[in-house]
Parts: sequence; structure tokens; C-alpha cells
Amino acid sequence: MRTLVFATNNLHKLAEMRQILSGEVQILSLADIECREDIPETAGTFEGNALMKARFVKERYGYDCFADDSGLEVESLDFAPGVYSARYAGEAHNSGANTDKLLSEMQGKSNRRARFRTVIALILDGGEYMFEGVINGLITEEKRGGGGFGYDPVFVPDGYTQTFAEMGDGIKNNISHRALAGRRLSIFLSNCNA
Ligand code: IMP
Repeated sequence: MRTLVFATNNLHKLAEMRQILSGEVQILSLADIECREDIPETAGTFEGNALMKARFVKERYGYDCFADDSGLEVESLDFAPGVYSARYAGEAHNSGANTDKLLSEMQGKSNRRARFRTVIALILDGGEYMFEGVINGLITEEKRGGGGFGYDPVFVPDGYTQTFAEMGDGIKNNISHRALAGRRLSIFLSNCNA
């Protein structure tokens, strides 16, 4: 089986991707390859950031690799917070403060449409490939639910009445932007293996 590095320090994402890609590839973490550097992500787009992280690992460590970048895009805020989702309320990466800021910016706005978007960049056998996952939904008026992370308490996906934070990881991880992008990557890898 092929080996690919997943350029993330997020153990939750690592476990999720290992599950989605089981049978296709063996996934190494950054710790497995002894990469302890801060990988820059300063490109300004999801695509650019994902590619920047994957190229960093390929160029410095020599491994074929994939990396992801994701965030929330809100229509009535000109698609903010976007690539700044993690630090919308400041460098502290505080989910509670980020969500509070979002609700306050959205006060009085009637268009509450938003989407979570993930882009995965893959470097494999000298080629570069991108896979996208999008889930559309609405921003609530207040936070609801104790599960999940980030903006989960204020996002209701289309076709559901509960927020991501209310529905539980089982459902969320099956329909999320990350799961969709991961499944596209999985299909691509299974075709490469065929
Ligand atoms: P990352 O690029 O996947 O680390 O995501 C960047 C930021 O986007 C996170 O810190 C969250 O604020 C937000 N985000 C990404 N995915 C999700 C999600 O599934 N639920 C809630 N927030 C998310």
C-alpha cells in the first residue's frame, strides 16, 4: 500500500482521514516524520494554503503528501471569515470569541446563508491535485448545542434543523465539507491504485 503524509497537527483530523482513506493508503502524521516546524499558511486562499503546506512537506521531507485548509464563508459578510476563520476575533484562536464576533456582525442581516468549505491539496508522483468539499447552510441567531468545535453551534446545514453542534459527530462527520473532500480524495486514490 502507498504511504502519504497528512500535513496536519490536528489529531482529530488525522483519525478522521485515516478512517476515510483506510484501504487506500497508509497515512503518516507530521510527528511520524519528525516534522516539528510551524508550516506557513499565508497564501490568502484555501487552495493556496493547502498547496503551500503540502509543498512544504514534499520539498523539505521528500514525502508525497496531502494537506487541507477549511473555513466558513458567509454570504452577507462578503464570504468572511473565510481563510481567517480560526483567528476571526484575534490571534488567540478562540472559538467562543470567533463565534460571538460572527453573531454580532450578522445582527440585523436577513441573508444568513453560509457554507463550510474544505480544500485538500495532494502531491503524488510529481503531480499536484485539488479536491473540494462544500456544505451549504444557515447561520443561526444564537449558539445551539455543545458538540463539535469552531463555528458548529451557529451552523445549520441545509436539509437539517439542528446545528452541527447539536447533531453529534456521527452525522456531522458523514455530511461535512471535510468528509466530502476526503471522499473525493479517496476515490481518486482508489482509481490510481486500480
Ligand atoms: P482548518 O483549516 O480545518 O483548521 O479550519 C480553520 C478554522 O475554520 C477552524 O479553526 C474553525 O474555526 C473553522 N472550521 C473549519 N471546519 C470547521 C467545522 O467543521 N466546524 C466548525 N468550524 C470549522
